[in-house]
Amino acid sequence: MPDYERAAADRPLASVRRQGRFHPSRFCSKRPPVIAAGSRETLHQPPRHLLAMEGMHPPQIAALLDLAESYALLNRSGKTKRDLLRGQTLINLFFEDSTRTRTSFELAGKRLGADVINMSVSTSSVNKGETLLDTASTLNAMNCDLLVVRHDQSGAPALLAQKVDAAVINAGDGTHEHPTQALLDALTIRRHRGRLEGLVVAICGDVLHSRVARSNIHLLTTMNSRVRVVGPPTLIPSSIAALGVEIFHDMRAGLAGADVVMMLRLQRERMVGGLVPSAREYFRFFGLDAAKLANAKPDALVMHPGPMNRGVEIDSAVADDPQRSVIREQVEMGVAVRMAVLDTLSRGHGRNEP
Ligand code: MLT
Repeated sequence: MPDYERAAADRPLASVRRQGRFHPSRFCSKRPPVIAAGSRETLHQPPRHLLAMEGMHPPQIAALLDLAESYALLNRSGKTKRDLLRGQTLINLFFEDSTRTRTSFELAGKRLGADVINMSVSTSSVNKGETLLDTASTLNAMNCDLLVVRHDQSGAPALLAQKVDAAVINAGDGTHEHPTQALLDALTIRRHRGRLEGLVVAICGDVLHSRVARSNIHLLTTMNSRVRVVGPPTLIPSSIAALGVEIFHDMRAGLAGADVVMMLRLQRERMVGGLVPSAREYFRFFGLDAAKLANAKPDALVMHPGPMNRGVEIDSAVADDPQRSVIREQVEMGVAVRMAVLDTLSRGHGRNEP
């Protein structure tokens, strides 16, 4: 029996579920209130919050991507400073470490002229025992307009959205969703392929713990891409098939003919016990190297949300190959997407042409 199957047998997914790491929310007993699908608010009013990709409609996604594309062009032109958000306060409230996402939101807010304040857990009063709801009431008293939240508990941004006056943007909650990551991934793909519809996208690795995977699955299936998830049985929940994806446990088969290969970080900090035998073993079977990539289309894009574990889920030669890897461009598109989201939530969808 290969090590991965043995590890799966040793530690069935049920045990992960029992420990509360699998289900989206400890805060919410039902789905977080995203932009309610099909509601009057969704169709006729600007969205109030961005909490998840689940429930978003294709025209909403396309509009955000179109706006982000114009911000990408504007950023490249060097004319970045605008005053669209002048007088508005954006608070980056990060209960979990992040450099890339926080910096990206900070840059996006500043490029649009907002006053940006970074609050991290080490400086906030959470360490002194303040609850999330007390934090919400403090933020309300500060008249914050836009609140970017990252939290290690799924559903925390949705809970805050019910309590604060600000527009809330989920910057990653537990294993639930990371909607701006999915939008920036989609924008990057669309820039290279001109469309999302009909593309075969292989999302590979630690799907079990990945909010990036979940947001991408919702966005890409909504936009009619064909999504595959590829990884060891220990890291692919079988229930994920209900989201309309195909499951593969072999990289060669999973990557065959793929237009896009999206690698995920092995999220050891979220793992309970030995879901993966060793980094070396993982790389051998599931790390992306030139040999495995050769199964995808010859011009397949290589993506990774970062931070990368080089030599674990991806080989440096592939990650740094300018012909295949669009990982740097993903970071660039992150700023453009976040500008589009801030713009849309602050003044209403489609009203502000950059
Ligand atoms: C995340 O916050 O989920 C990151 O963008 C991806 C990762 O941590 O692997």
